[in-house]
Amino acid sequence: MRTPTDDAVFETHLPLDGRRQGKVRDVYDLAPDSKGPRLLLVASDRISAFDVVMPNPIPGKGRLLTSIASGWFDFLRKRNIIKDHVLSTELPTIQGIDESLINSLRGRTMTCRSARVVAIECVARGYLAGSGWAEYQSSSAVCGVSLPPGLEQCQRLPTPIFSPATKAVEGHDENISFERAGELVGVDLMRRLRDLTLNIYSIAAEYAFERGVILADTKFEFGFALDRNGDVTDELMLVDEVLTPDSSRYWPLANYKPGQDQPSFDKQFLRNWLLQLVHSGAWDKTPPGPEVPSDIIAGTLARYEEALQKLFPRSK
Ligand SMILES: Nc1ncnc2c1ncn2[C@@H]1O[C@H](COP(=O)(O)OP(=O)(O)OP(=O)(O)O)[C@@H](O)[C@H]1O
Ligand SMILES: [Mg+2]
Repeated sequence: MRTPTDDAVFETHLPLDGRRQGKVRDVYDLAPDSKGPRLLLVASDRISAFDVVMPNPIPGKGRLLTSIASGWFDFLRKRNIIKDHVLSTELPTIQGIDESLINSLRGRTMTCRSARVVAIECVARGYLAGSGWAEYQSSSAVCGVSLPPGLEQCQRLPTPIFSPATKAVEGHDENISFERAGELVGVDLMRRLRDLTLNIYSIAAEYAFERGVILADTKFEFGFALDRNGDVTDELMLVDEVLTPDSSRYWPLANYKPGQDQPSFDKQFLRNWLLQLVHSGAWDKTPPGPEVPSDIIAGTLARYEEALQKLFPRSK
């Protein structure tokens, strides 16, 4: 009998160069193609919340994440908004790995063009939630953008807001003003990233809304492609994952009610369980994270699955 952990991939150690590990993805170097260097991104079943990786996997989450991201990359490509880093979602041939490892990797990988990633997380917020809601309550503004008084938790914003954050090497990302982001990476680049972020957000939010899903906010990363010598070019690309429940807040439209926390198709279910532990003094949001119980694993997985089915119904 299959148990839920049969197919879990917590981390990988593939016989490829340049292994590095993010919170969720393992990244490897692949041989360059004619355009330049390539990467293999492997979406594991790790889950992080409050920037802490939980000690046990959500079996199958990496596959769902890859399906959702690749659904959105396809969607955006057709709209010709910006180039992206995806070359293939087929598993490339990796010498020296056995059949069972091949099977466990299938559906979790993306072969991508390598980029020098811009060190700013580009967040678009269409609704007042998370750190945006916290900031609004204390300052009536989000990332330096003043908002009308009296807005409720999770309320739709008059217009979506671009809110950049630093990409912290360690610890928590920090919301910064547009001006500060401009000082860090250049004002012209930031204007371009802001316009792209808000444009992609609006198009994706409209698509999701038609399918009964509110895309409350999301985060993009951009990067400049590398050339055959590994030098940075001026070719801007959308990189990383896009519009997944790891990088976005997704709420069911049918249950939407401002003035309260929303049920969600994302990590909020896990975060809410963790917050109970924090309030009872059992966890303080520092590593190691607590072991996630089976009902929270199943509930999280079900939400990611539902997000995929609602957004891209034919995907498996
Ligand atoms: N095309 C690309 N070229 C280079 N790096 C990339 C590219 N696409 C994504 N990345 C990087 O690969 C890593 C993916 O791993 P993951 O998302 O698990 O990391 P993370 O913990 O979110 O990382 P970080 O702390 O750097 O944001 C990220 O650091 C991301 O910036
Ligand atoms: Mg990431």
